[in-house]
Amino acid sequence: MDIFDLSNEIAVVLGAGGALGGAMAEGLAEAGAGVAILDFAVERGQARAKSIADKGRRAVFVQANALDRASLRAAHEAVTRELGAPTILVNAVGGNDPAAQVTEDRSFENLSAEAWRANFDLNLCGGVLFPCQEFGAAMVKRGRGSIINIASVSAHIPLSRVVAYSAAKAAVLNLTRFLAREWATKGVRVNSITPGFFPADQNRRLLFNADGSPTPRAKAILDHTPMRRMGEPSELIGAVIFLASDKASGFVTGADIRVDGGFLAQTI
Ligand SMILES: NC(=O)c1ccc[n+]([C@@H]2O[C@H](COP(=O)([O-])OP(=O)(O)OC[C@H]3O[C@@H](n4cnc5c(N)ncnc54)[C@H](O)[C@@H]3O)[C@@H](O)[C@H]2O)c1
Repeated sequence: MDIFDLSNEIAVVLGAGGALGGAMAEGLAEAGAGVAILDFAVERGQARAKSIADKGRRAVFVQANALDRASLRAAHEAVTRELGAPTILVNAVGGNDPAAQVTEDRSFENLSAEAWRANFDLNLCGGVLFPCQEFGAAMVKRGRGSIINIASVSAHIPLSRVVAYSAAKAAVLNLTRFLAREWATKGVRVNSITPGFFPADQNRRLLFNADGSPTPRAKAILDHTPMRRMGEPSELIGAVIFLASDKASGFVTGADIRVDGGFLAQTI
């Protein structure tokens, strides 16, 4: 079965200094791809690139700010120089900015426009739009590529409190489908993965108390998850390799794969 072999591919993973992007970068490298770790966090990004290289796989770290198009352009040039032209793009920059969250002290009516915009900037512009304009456009010119965006269960059904994040992630799904259609005849496929709940820096405070015990919110999540557990980042690897590989998913575009322990399949 060589349909999951990525040894002719160069993958750019934005946000690979983080929990989910990092695990997906490891998986793509394991499947043979040369992997560029892009993140603005230097230490975490370098550590991830080293961990991959230590396993005998190809990886480089390039610092990049997904919100800054000039920085993405420079990173693109560096990746092309060091590894070759990217054929896979995984967009794993994103997260909930608590400043735009509804809390006991902050009602929906009192959300600030600035905080709202910051969530959309991070999750939609840095999370999908700017990297697709930079890397996706070059893939279109070369006629080959696979883009994988990271949505969220809150893109499908809005979670309580994280209102701006949910709306921005819904837009991620929508933009994924727009681009899928736009680039379908140009050799570039655009799909998304919807992760359920995976403990990581951006949501730890919502899920766990200082002593490590689950918050009422984490308990509610587990009660609503048929598998009664949260995910491990490595459980995203199968989906990302499938979507990255033209041989495995050549007729798949505009799709969303849920890796959520059944969260979105459950009502009562
Ligand atoms: N962890 C979860 O449960 C979960 C669930 C659903 C969706 N997601 C989504 O998956 C993606 C990854 O989440 P994670 O849990 O790995 O988060 P994380 O915070 O561990 O990783 C995000 C990474 O992005 C980097 N980053 C942030 N802004 C950046 C910028 N402007 N330029 C470059 N790098 C930047 C951070 O330095 C960090 O390394 C996000 O889009 C998140 O919304 C996560």
